[in-house]
Amino acid sequence: MDKIVIITGVSRESGLGFETARQLKDLGYKVIITARDLDKVSELAEKIGVFARQLDITNDQSIDGLVKDIDKEFGRIDVLINNAGSFFDQGAEPLSSDIEFIKAAIDTNLLGAWRMIKAFHNLLEQSDQPRIVNVSSGAGSFDDPVFGLANHFSKVPVYGITKLALNGLTVKLATQFKEHKIKINSVDPGFTATYPGTEEWGARPVEEGAIGIVWAATLPNDGPSGGFFKDGKPINW
Ligand SMILES: NC(=O)c1ccc[n+]([C@@H]2O[C@H](COP(=O)([O-])OP(=O)(O)OC[C@H]3O[C@@H](n4cnc5c(N)ncnc54)[C@H](OP(=O)(O)O)[C@@H]3O)[C@@H](O)[C@H]2O)c1
Repeated sequence: MDKIVIITGVSRESGLGFETARQLKDLGYKVIITARDLDKVSELAEKIGVFARQLDITNDQSIDGLVKDIDKEFGRIDVLINNAGSFFDQGAEPLSSDIEFIKAAIDTNLLGAWRMIKAFHNLLEQSDQPRIVNVSSGAGSFDDPVFGLANHFSKVPVYGITKLALNGLTVKLATQFKEHKIKINSVDPGFTATYPGTEEWGARPVEEGAIGIVWAATLPNDGPSGGFFKDGKPINW
């Protein structure tokens, strides 16, 4: 039976979500890609022969609708990839960050994943090998030499703090899921060329960035849970 994976935030062909979908489809997964804009996600789905659904991860009704739809059609999911994330506040400083912007960033980057996991964990429990991947960032870690939280050159305070919090969610849920079979991990895709011009700044190809996400989505039963990984290797928080 094909494994079923849901990926959030797939609205651009050059994005990590689309490349992750492509790689998992090649591995034989039944892939459901989602985005706020149904037209965009449907067009992308058609290109690689996967399923498309509308989903806004800040909207409970949108999430509930998807849960009902997937429950009716498939009765389970095997993998949830919380890829949707935004609010990269390049050049900002925490004191001058707008509180409404901060709230919106938390609502998407942290609460979006949290809502999705709360909504889908019953369908994940129906799987033999359920996996959750939270797509995080080196900007939410202390260790990343360029984007890390304590690094002077790192100027993405709001984005970084939301990814730090997302990592916290990964750890707390892994503890709760200990008695269950669900494995949950955070993945840093690394600086990846998902936007034009970023290669010049050292971003790597999207095919490479997605490899670690696919690795965490396809973990065997003796794989880790509650960790933070890049390219399938543990990294410091
Ligand atoms: N590229 C990098 O260097 C890098 C490095 C580390 C981590 N990451 C992480 O990787 C993930 C993918 O990023 P990307 O670089 O591939 O950029 P991207 O294509 O812009 O991906 C972000 C996606 O999140 C979606 N999104 C935003 N708010 C949403 C909401 N409320 N509901 C549903 N979807 C929503 C966006 O959709 P809309 O088009 O509707 O806005 C977009 O499809 C993000 O979590 C990002 O933080 C990226």
